[in-house]
Amino acid sequence: MKTILVTGGTGYIGSHTVVELQTSGYDVIIADNLSNSSADVIDKIEQITGKRPIFIKVDLSDSEQAASIFDKYSIDGIINFAAFKAVGESCQKPIEYYRNNLQIALNMLENMKRKGIKYFVQSSSCTVYGEPDSNPINEQCPTKFAVSPYGNTKQMVEDMLHFITQSGEIKAIALRYFNPIGAHSTALIGELPNGVPNNLMPYITQTAAGIRKQLTVFGNDYPTPDGTCIRDYIHVVDLAKAHVVAMDRLFEGRNKKNFEYFNIGTGVGFSVLDIIKSFEKTTGVKLNYVFGQRREGDVVQIWADTSLAENELGWKANMSLDQMTLSAWRWQQQMQKS
Ligand code: UD1
Repeated sequence: MKTILVTGGTGYIGSHTVVELQTSGYDVIIADNLSNSSADVIDKIEQITGKRPIFIKVDLSDSEQAASIFDKYSIDGIINFAAFKAVGESCQKPIEYYRNNLQIALNMLENMKRKGIKYFVQSSSCTVYGEPDSNPINEQCPTKFAVSPYGNTKQMVEDMLHFITQSGEIKAIALRYFNPIGAHSTALIGELPNGVPNNLMPYITQTAAGIRKQLTVFGNDYPTPDGTCIRDYIHVVDLAKAHVVAMDRLFEGRNKKNFEYFNIGTGVGFSVLDIIKSFEKTTGVKLNYVFGQRREGDVVQIWADTSLAENELGWKANMSLDQMTLSAWRWQQQMQKS
């Protein structure tokens, strides 16, 4: 049985990935400082899988605290989710973002080298591409200057991996996520935004639940068919499965380079209005929304060319947009009950 250290494993994508790892036969150790998540998630994971992951509350940006995990446990691979992730906040607190996100990645890689741990999967983002010149975007397209310090930390960790893996001691895969939404089918885990959500899906579900008065659609004068921005929304469970497949690839030595990166999306772009329509249709709830100003820093449209992930990882997203919006709503309703 292989043991995976999942940093940020009580977070949104992390928790869904822990479930998929456990159900695929991996043992999991979660390391998380709970800065943007709750320890209750551990109970929920156990309810879903019947297995309780080891949980360590730790600040992974602190090198001594990080090292202590590697001295105590035997670890075969790492999936690194632990990072600050709010785009707007990163513009206000750039130093904190650079220090936290880069230091955590470096501490993991340094301890991997020290302990001879070979395999690393990094949580990356389509934000590394900036505004695409054309869609769908593939991995050969050059990355552009980041629009935020958050996005820049994702680029910088990828750049670090490019050089750090060159000696061959460490092999890494970065997964460039498009827009993860939705929640587990049990509605036991999902996205838990801190305060007012920045992202579209939790804003929609909170508006429908009456927690927010109104959703503002940021801009309806974009050069797209309905005037609203287009993104490649992917169900978080499909995304979680991509991590298991990436880890398997590394363990089985099927990787073609020491550092590889893959787009993880559905390959289909949906507009903000498409998401609203799907939500209203699947839930039967009418959403109160208005059109507002464009949001600074938003790209007009981006969706993934997923052929590399399909051909190399043998991974493809399965879930429909309606499954995404309905599962997000079930999770919101479940949260209201508890
Ligand atoms: C952003 C980040 C991405 C990050 C992701 C998850 C950028 C360019 N993008 O994606 O890197 O991985 O968040 O944290 O840095 N919208 C509204 N009203 C709202 C909220 C959103 O109309 O109240 C619209 C946005 O304008 C956008 C779409 O919904 O067109 C999706 O927005 P959001 O969920 O915030 O994701 P991104 O900005 O695409």
